[in-house]
Amino acid sequence: MKTVKCGIIGCGVIAPSHIESYRNLSGVEIKTLCDLVKSKAEKLAEKYSVPVVCVDYKDILNDPEIDCVSVCTDHGSHARVVTDALDAGKHVICEKALGASSDCLTTMEVAHARNSHLIFTGIFQHRFENITRLIKEFIDRDGFGTLTTVNLNSALLRTHEYYRQDKWRGTWAEEGGSLLINQAIHYIDLINWLCGGVEEVSARFENLTHQDVIETEDTAVAIMKFKKGFIGSITATASSVETWRHTIVISGTEGFVELNNDEVTYYNFSNKDLRQEFAERLSSCSEEKRINAGKTYYGEGHPAQIKDFIDAIRERRAPFVSAESARSTVEIVLACYESGRSGKWVKTGRN
Ligand SMILES: NC(=O)c1ccc[n+]([C@@H]2O[C@H](COP(=O)([O-])OP(=O)(O)OC[C@H]3O[C@@H](n4cnc5c(N)ncnc54)[C@H](O)[C@@H]3O)[C@@H](O)[C@H]2O)c1
Repeated sequence: MKTVKCGIIGCGVIAPSHIESYRNLSGVEIKTLCDLVKSKAEKLAEKYSVPVVCVDYKDILNDPEIDCVSVCTDHGSHARVVTDALDAGKHVICEKALGASSDCLTTMEVAHARNSHLIFTGIFQHRFENITRLIKEFIDRDGFGTLTTVNLNSALLRTHEYYRQDKWRGTWAEEGGSLLINQAIHYIDLINWLCGGVEEVSARFENLTHQDVIETEDTAVAIMKFKKGFIGSITATASSVETWRHTIVISGTEGFVELNNDEVTYYNFSNKDLRQEFAERLSSCSEEKRINAGKTYYGEGHPAQIKDFIDAIRERRAPFVSAESARSTVEIVLACYESGRSGKWVKTGRN
């Protein structure tokens, strides 16, 4: 089996989750770490014994030994880095949010179409958790009957210091928004993926407690019409006493589940056998801890998603999270912003 060689572009908060995930895999080597701030790349290179560091990501792209890259930079740079990487013949896994605008998403999509033999995927690690997969399976088996409502409540805290630590945070141009596109997006992605896509949204967003710090939103609400006809809502704030609490409630004529962060706190199925099966499988759903990097609420999905990326490269197959599907979640968020500005319902498709 040929060794797959990787480069990591961007050595900030999330990079160690990628590094540790690659290090879990046999036949995979991280050759180069890149950051505009050389000391950040050097620090991680020393910790993880990575042989090469650079400040210009083109050095990674020009290295014929490197097969694939993780893009772990700020949102505003994703389109340029991803496009250059694909055009240089590298497989790409890019952190969420794939892009901060429709134009950026389209630029990447066009670059992938030019290089369609390459794997291109976007991180949405919570799709890889055993519990979310179990819920997905029961929805797809029609265990919930006719879905009627899906609700997300995201309550988290982002302090003034958090936004001040990096200049891209809290800006429309570089972050593309804040609460929705950076934090709540994980769970917006889950409801999008679990429930078959959102067709249109009506949203409102505010900056309630960070007025002098960010130009973007810290609080938002949205109502959503899903493609399958049911309706749902998002209520989110980054100004909560809670550090990180996301509750998803999925309600159907035959099934009901309440997911709190990564735990099912209540469920019911009208079919006794289904209820029994869900209970048994839920009890064996605990996640294996495979990496020590990142905050606990990042979950255990990065190793599984990065394994899927490497397997997709080796097996020349599509990754579990297609770029198109990662894009569709960003489009929900972008539609919320557009609706918040215009006061109108906005379709989630390509704007
Ligand atoms: N999946 C998750 O749970 C999760 C968690 C945190 C962050 N993220 C995502 O990861 C990405 C990075 O976030 P972060 O918190 O690590 O940010 P960060 O600011 O801590 O790190 C980004 C790094 O990229 C570097 N960088 C920027 N442009 C570069 C370029 N052209 N070449 C080389 N280096 C460059 C910066 O110097 C910085 O060190 C974002 O997309 C964010 O949304 C995902």
